[in-house]
Amino acid sequence: MTEKKLKRVMIQTLGCQMNVYDTGRMTDMLYDLGYEPTDSPGKADLVIVNTCAIREKAEQKVLSSLGRLCAIKQKRPNLLIAVAGCVAQQQSEKLCQRFEGLDLVLGTRVIHRLPDYVRALENGKGPIADVEMPEENVFDNTGLRSEAETQPPLKASSGGVSRYVTIMRGCDNFCAYCVVPYVRGWETSRPPEHIVEEVRALVSAGAKEVTLLGQNVNSYGKKEGLCSFPRLLELVSGVDGLERIRFVTSHPKDLSDELVEAFNRIDKLCSHIHLPVQSGSDSVLKRMNRKYGRQDYMERIEKLRSVRPGIAVTTDVIVGFPGETEHDFEMTLDLLEQVKFDTLFAFEYSDRPQAPARRFKEKVSADDKKARLRELLNYQAGITRQIYEGLVGSIMDVLVEGFSRRGRGAGDEKDLNKPEMTGRSPQNRIVNFELEHSTKQPDPGQLVGKIIPVVIERACANSLKGKLPADEPAAEYKSKGGKIHAA
Ligand code: 5AD
Ligand code: SF4
Repeated sequence: MTEKKLKRVMIQTLGCQMNVYDTGRMTDMLYDLGYEPTDSPGKADLVIVNTCAIREKAEQKVLSSLGRLCAIKQKRPNLLIAVAGCVAQQQSEKLCQRFEGLDLVLGTRVIHRLPDYVRALENGKGPIADVEMPEENVFDNTGLRSEAETQPPLKASSGGVSRYVTIMRGCDNFCAYCVVPYVRGWETSRPPEHIVEEVRALVSAGAKEVTLLGQNVNSYGKKEGLCSFPRLLELVSGVDGLERIRFVTSHPKDLSDELVEAFNRIDKLCSHIHLPVQSGSDSVLKRMNRKYGRQDYMERIEKLRSVRPGIAVTTDVIVGFPGETEHDFEMTLDLLEQVKFDTLFAFEYSDRPQAPARRFKEKVSADDKKARLRELLNYQAGITRQIYEGLVGSIMDVLVEGFSRRGRGAGDEKDLNKPEMTGRSPQNRIVNFELEHSTKQPDPGQLVGKIIPVVIERACANSLKGKLPADEPAAEYKSKGGKIHAA
């Protein structure tokens, strides 16, 4: 028998959770071709850069990564280099011209063709560029499994307590600043039975939490006449052994009463919603084509808070959208003050190819954008501090994910007698906690994947710090339905 050569693939994932999911899918497909994952480009036979085009900075990162890889290829000509994701979709031709060593450009809607292309490259063919946006093969909504769907969900990429599941791709909203509809294509939802099947497989491989992914999950299934998003949540919550469900991202205009009601009904649904507001000014929202106003937004949040008191709300904000005045910006700060987001992601507006706002006049200067971003982040840091300090002394159910950065030995504070673990509360707050080396405390390894109560002792800028309740030693925790309960 001839011995098969071990091949290695490194996938660099940039951008959003959608890319993390696609990387998992590519890892699985390549595993079938004999590729083991590696973190080191030096050891890899194939490197894939899974790219993001959402903002200018993200795109620059892609270009510098590809530049570095092509330089490595000059010394190791057998190295195969591929680029996937949004920049691949958008800039296929440019990339091929600019990077001579590039072997494969794979668009966002043809990921399932990766194995065929890699086989061809191994046989000396190429370079190959495929950025077709075929209608039929992203998700098959007839109930039959499409080519893309025949990949069983977990293999090489298995492991992990918290996993992503894509429920839809693309977007039909055309916000004026956004490149997504052009690089990910139109909105397509995946049949609920495929989603539930994948969640089941993830849970049997050890997942306790899933995050359902889509650009606008609230409009799930509408176009295809599948079930509604709240119904999908209900179906997913029926998976035994699954403890927590999260979802991203919701568009405020589509946040229905039925979804608000789902927070009332479905216990597994975590008390957190990421609801990008983008701006607190009605006139900016209008020009962004967001189709809601600040009042609508605040009313939606009030409704959510009335059914789920204590629900954490996080958001995305763009500063310096064309025509944003000082007054518009102040309206955004005022909205932050009124809503009291847990945390937020804030971005300086950047022109994107194809997105209509690139043609809007009255661009905000780079200096003003920087200054506004700084002010907004400072402002929010104060609000986050206030919220987090108010949590000191409370007990939170934390789903333990593993050792924290410090617990893994990073940084000077490393203390091997006090391993530090990390996990998340239902509100998606990061909670780190120390374990004392004592017979009463649990073995760190056994805690991973368990939901345990943690007493919050301190608020940090982006996380909380706690400890296990002293009078509830591990020996007395009982594992019940995957949860550890104090006896
Ligand atoms: N410039 C700056 N930020 C942007 N985002 C999307 N497009 C742009 C752009 N052109 C931000 C939005 C979105 C998040 C994922 O990225 O806030 O919610
Ligand atoms: Fe982009 Fe708007 Fe679609 Fe979100 S909803 S992906 S911001 S176009």
